[in-house]
Formats: sequence, C-alpha cells, structure tokens
Amino acid sequence: MRVVLVGYMASGKSSVGRLLAKELGLEFIDLDAYIEEQQKKSIKTIFSEKGEIFFRKLEHEMLGKVLDEHQDLILSTGGGTPCYGNNMETILEKSDHSIYLQLSIPALVERIKGEKEDRPLVKNIKDEDLSEFIGKHLFERRQYYAQAKHVFECDGKNLETVVYEIKQLL
Ligand code: S3P
Repeated sequence: MRVVLVGYMASGKSSVGRLLAKELGLEFIDLDAYIEEQQKKSIKTIFSEKGEIFFRKLEHEMLGKVLDEHQDLILSTGGGTPCYGNNMETILEKSDHSIYLQLSIPALVERIKGEKEDRPLVKNIKDEDLSEFIGKHLFERRQYYAQAKHVFECDGKNLETVVYEIKQLL
C-alpha cells in the first residue's frame, strides 16, 4: 500500500508519516530528506545555490522515482510538491491513499513562526506578515491539496490523534 501525505509547510507531514509508518510496519520516506541525501545538501542550500526551479525539477524526478520504486510506503511530500507540473496527477495515480493534512491559517502561522529559518520560502517574511502571506499562498495551493483522496482536518489534534484517525481511513 502506498500512502502519500500532502499539505502546507509545517502541517505535520513528516511527523505524521513517520509515526504512521511505524504503527503500520511500512517504510517511511520523507521526500525532502530523500532529496537532501541524494544531493548531499540541505534544501536551504539547494535553494540558495541552484534556485527554486532547479529544486522543483529535482522534486518532480524524485517523486516519480520514489513512487515507482516502492510498492509499500508512507511518503511525506514537501509543501509545494503537489502544486508543480503534473505532480498531483502522479500522486493520485500512484498512491492507494493520498491525504491532505489540513490546518487553518492561524494554526499554520503559530507553527511556522518559530521554524522559519530552514524554510526558504518564508524565512524573509516578518512574523506580523505571515498570516497574510500564508493566506494568499494557501489560496493558490489549496486547489492542488484538495484533490487528495482524503482531506483530513488537523486543527486542535495532537500527533497521536491524527495518526489514530488516519489509520481508520485506510
Ligand atoms: C516547500 C516546502 C518544504 C520544502 C521546500 C519548499 C514549499 O517542505 O520542500 O522548502 O514549497 O512549500 P515542508 O513542507 O516539509 O516544509
């Protein structure tokens, strides 16, 4: 079974994916970590040295490769993965379950505030401007996330609850 988690930055894709995989006894891959290993560079460095377009091409290639090479896995994607090229179609075609971890704008702002440094797309946004930035960004991206087979509401839920409830969907 292939399960793909999508959603905005800081929506918990990696933590949920890791715990879900552990509980289901499946392999877990975090697409960002996979790209970092492959390139031997952090996402932050790839963005600053080669730019976003280079990263998006790499992300597209690696998404296809990981899904083709694993029959059984939990894959957490990057916040932008479903929103470029035909990536969302690939996710829908090659997964048994795709899950959008949905969080409200205020909840995302709270989480992202303290974690901007390693996130190239938000690192220069002032805390007081985050809400407006995320609101606009999410408006563009939601149309991709919302194509997932399951839209899963995460506001106010802890990690264990999210994982428990997702297991009921599978
Ligand atoms: C990005 C999200 C990041 C990472 C890159 C771009 C985005 O992943 O892929 O910085 O476009 O939203 P996370 O969602 O894990 O932060």
